[in-house]
This record gives sequence, C-alpha cells and structure tokens, in this order.
Amino acid sequence: MLLEALAGKNNARPPIWLMRQAGRYMPQYQAIRKSHHLRDMFLRPDLIVPISKLPLELLDVDAAILFTDILTVLEGLGAKWDFNEGPVVDADLSQLQRNDPRIAYATIYEAIVQLKEEIDVPLLGFAGAPFTIATYLIEGKSSRDFAKTKGWLYSDPQTFHALLRQITDATLDYLSVQVEAGVDAVQLFDSWANLLSRRDFRTVCLPYLQEIINKVPVPVILFCRGSSFLAEDLSSIEPAALSLDWSEDLSTIRKKTSLPLQGNLDPGILFGSQEQIACQAQRILDEMRGDPGFIFNLGHGVLPGTPFENVKYLVDYVTGKIPQTCAALHELPYSS
Ligand code: CP3
Repeated sequence: MLLEALAGKNNARPPIWLMRQAGRYMPQYQAIRKSHHLRDMFLRPDLIVPISKLPLELLDVDAAILFTDILTVLEGLGAKWDFNEGPVVDADLSQLQRNDPRIAYATIYEAIVQLKEEIDVPLLGFAGAPFTIATYLIEGKSSRDFAKTKGWLYSDPQTFHALLRQITDATLDYLSVQVEAGVDAVQLFDSWANLLSRRDFRTVCLPYLQEIINKVPVPVILFCRGSSFLAEDLSSIEPAALSLDWSEDLSTIRKKTSLPLQGNLDPGILFGSQEQIACQAQRILDEMRGDPGFIFNLGHGVLPGTPFENVKYLVDYVTGKIPQTCAALHELPYSS
C-alpha cells in the first residue's frame, strides 16, 4: 500500500505510519531505554531491529522506519556525537573526513538486512537534510536562536556551502548504504529549514535536497518542517512525495501539486479526547478520499508523553479497525 501510494497508484485505503512511531510514549521502548545508552540504541543492530519492529507489533502500522537518528550520518564524517538531554556534537569542522561508508555505517547496513528478513511491510530509511545536519555540527547541540549557524552563513557563505557539500556527500554515502541493504524508500528530514527565508531556503537547502533526490534510486519523501507554504518550491525538485505539517489543509496543497502527499495530523491532537482524534482524522480522510497518492501520517513526530492508547486509537481508526463513524469536524466548536 505504501509503495503504491508513493507511486500515486493506491486504490486501497490510505496507508498509515507515524514519524517517531518508536519512542518514549511506548512503555516497551522505555524499558529498553532504561538499560541502554541512547547512542548504542541508534547504532547496535541487536537494539535497532527490535525497536524498529515495536510499532508493527503494537500498532500494526503499514510501514516500519529504521530506528536510528539523523546524527548517525556523522560516523562518515568523523565527527563525535552523543546524547545528553539532547544531541551533543563535537567536531573540528576544518578536519571533517570522508570515511569508507561500508565501515562507517556497517552496523546500520546489518540492521537493515536483518529487518528486511523479519518484516513483511515496507522499510523506510532516512537521513537529515544537509542544512539541518549543518546546524547540529555548527551549534554542537540543539539551539534556540541558531546564532552560530546564521553568523557563519551570513558572513562566509562560501565556506558554509563547502560544509553543505561535505555533508551532502556523506549523506549520499549513507543513503546508498541504506539502499544497498534493502530499504524500500527513504525520508529526508529538513527539520530546521524553517529558520530561513524563502529566498535563502532556495539557495541554501533546495539544491542539495534536489541532488539527493536525483541520486537516490528509491522513492524519497521530503519533510521540511513548517513548509506547507513552500509546497510549490518543494514540488519543483520532484521528490516522490511531500510530507507536510498541519498548518495548511492537504486539500489546499493538492490544488498546488500532483505529487503524493503525506500527513498531516497535528501530533498535539493525540493528547486530546478519542472523539476529537476520530473527528480530526476523519476530516483528513474525507479531504483525501479516493486520492491514489495519499499516506496518512502526523505533521511531525509523536510527542513524548502522548498516551499510547490514543496513538493506537488513531491507527485503528484510520485503518478501519474501528468503524469510521465520526462526522468530519470542520471547525472546533466554541461556546460563547
Ligand atoms: O521516526 C522514527 O521513529 C525513526 C527514528 C528517528 C529518531 N530521530 C529517533 C530519536 C528519526 C527519524 C529521528 C530524526 C531526527 N532526529 C530529527 C528529524 C525529525 C524531527 O523530529 O524534526 C532530528 C531533528 C533529530 C535530532 C534529535 N534526536 C533531537 C533534537 C533529539 C532530542 C529531542 C527529542 O526528541 O528527544 C533526538 C533524540 C531522539 N531521536 C529520540 C528518538 C526516539 C529520543 C530518544 C530518547 O530520549 O529516548
């Protein structure tokens, strides 16, 4: 179903998977997390494989996504990375390397091969987009204002682009390892693309995204946070599909592009009542009814603390395990 939808040829119900579908909202994930270091969870096949399978076992979603992090690509650049509260990156940016991808990403390769043997739904690989990876390399951690990144970009754009070039090469290496190991499609996450003006996004992000889309031989789903208003720019580089946030209705985006669309339920709604979850999901299903290129997903990842039973309820509702009886709620009711 997922691969058909990515080809714009799905005649069955829309497939569903969720960004961050394996994570802290799951007690089973918490149990593994308690006894392992996060970096190991992102690198060791004996942890990646069972964690990637959790959403299949517990939610019965239509696709698995490789469990690792966008920072794993740094293995190929020789940059040190870890997690301590949030991501921590330590690198001398004048000394980045281009390590042999077969060695740098050997455990990821192994995990994918093993997963492909053990699951019977499509497996998604992924990578961070070059600009988003650059922010972690430059800031060294999550940032509020991205002052170092912007300071560099807007004082020495040439070397900034040289860095993006190095990251793009490593990303292509990383994705080719994933494809060789057997992923069916990949998603690119440009989580910080929304920091830039539209004009600067076009020169700082788009060309590298386009190069990756052109060179990766499996369907590429493109997710740029906060980018619903950029749908036409994003379509112009012809990814297999656009993954969109909830700021714009998919039916409105559909008028601007014929590409397959993925999205776009606000993950915050999963903290609400199941009645509200059903109605909000129904609205999206109604908008995209009969669309052969539609994949149900959230507009961003499942948030920590989300009640597990609500995530399960959403998947059951969209897949029809719960009768789809909610009349679409087009506006939140307000009382005076
Ligand atoms: O979607 C999936 O289930 C696949 C796994 C996945 C993770 N990270 C695991 C993870 C994916 C696709 C990512 C992508 C990722 N990582 C992005 C892009 C997507 C997005 O959310 O915008 C970014 C920006 C990162 C970097 C990152 N990783 C941050 C900023 C953090 C800390 C904040 C947070 O959400 O905890 C992480 C940690 C991380 N990556 C966790 C998981 C499950 C949380 C780990 C934990 O604390 O147990």
